[in-house]
Amino acid sequence: MDETQAAIGLDAFETRGVAVVFGASGGIGRALVQALLASQRFDHVVAFSRTTSVAIDLLDEASLERAAALAATKGEIRLVIDATGFLHDENQGPEKSLQQIDAAKMARAFALNAIGPALIMKHMLPLLPRTGKAVFATLSARVASIGDNRLGGWYSYRASKAALNQLVRTAAVELARRAPNAICVALHPGTVATSLSAPFSKDGLDIQTVDVSAARLLDVIDGLSPDQTGCFFDHLGAPIPW
Ligand SMILES: NC(=O)c1ccc[n+]([C@@H]2O[C@H](COP(=O)([O-])OP(=O)(O)OC[C@H]3O[C@@H](n4cnc5c(N)ncnc54)[C@H](OP(=O)(O)O)[C@@H]3O)[C@@H](O)[C@H]2O)c1
Repeated sequence: MDETQAAIGLDAFETRGVAVVFGASGGIGRALVQALLASQRFDHVVAFSRTTSVAIDLLDEASLERAAALAATKGEIRLVIDATGFLHDENQGPEKSLQQIDAAKMARAFALNAIGPALIMKHMLPLLPRTGKAVFATLSARVASIGDNRLGGWYSYRASKAALNQLVRTAAVELARRAPNAICVALHPGTVATSLSAPFSKDGLDIQTVDVSAARLLDVIDGLSPDQTGCFFDHLGAPIPW
């Protein structure tokens, strides 16, 4: 265990139970799983990706339902982190201008960044206990902020993550009626050295390692209280304007 991992307390979770990470094959997702295991704070850390034995695909709701059912067999679910997300692949990348918008590619970004996480919430939020601290956190991005958008571009990524933020807020309202202590938030992980950010990383940006980002995200999660549900925070715990 390195110093970063040793610093993770997660003390606000007063009971043990289960932590679940979706997108465990990603740069940040993998680091979150390692940090959660190293913290020894939960009885089980359940990791899902497209390559785990019970595999998930954001485009296949039945796979998310199966994953939720498996996680529920492990015990009381106290923490769910959705670390999935999509910015670019060999077929598409962020648009620099309106002229680059392609309907099918934009729909794919929405399917992966907004609808998939909404389906994860659909199947996971009902599993959060009614009492005691429980958190659902999904990784959004600062560029989803409408109030903070001064550079333009990246239409599909910005808009699909903004849609994700609205879905988080809406789900938080519903969740609070059943489980008033449960927390549902969107988190910005910072700029992190992963394959998602690699083509766009410029000198001068504050680029974090995946381990530092994971430790900061878990620290923010540890500090969240129920009155902060439905909000959008960065990796240092500062609120981001919608
Ligand atoms: N890195 C940054 O600087 C940065 C900045 C702001 C926000 N974020 C956000 O942070 C989150 C994690 O990003 P990352 O940098 O760790 O990216 P990453 O390494 O590319 O990880 C993305 C994860 O999403 C999964 N995923 C993609 N399509 C999927 C699908 N159809 N079904 C299931 N899983 C799928 C990937 O699975 P596979 O391994 O199977 O492809 C992978 O586990 C994303 O939401 C991203 O938008 C990152």
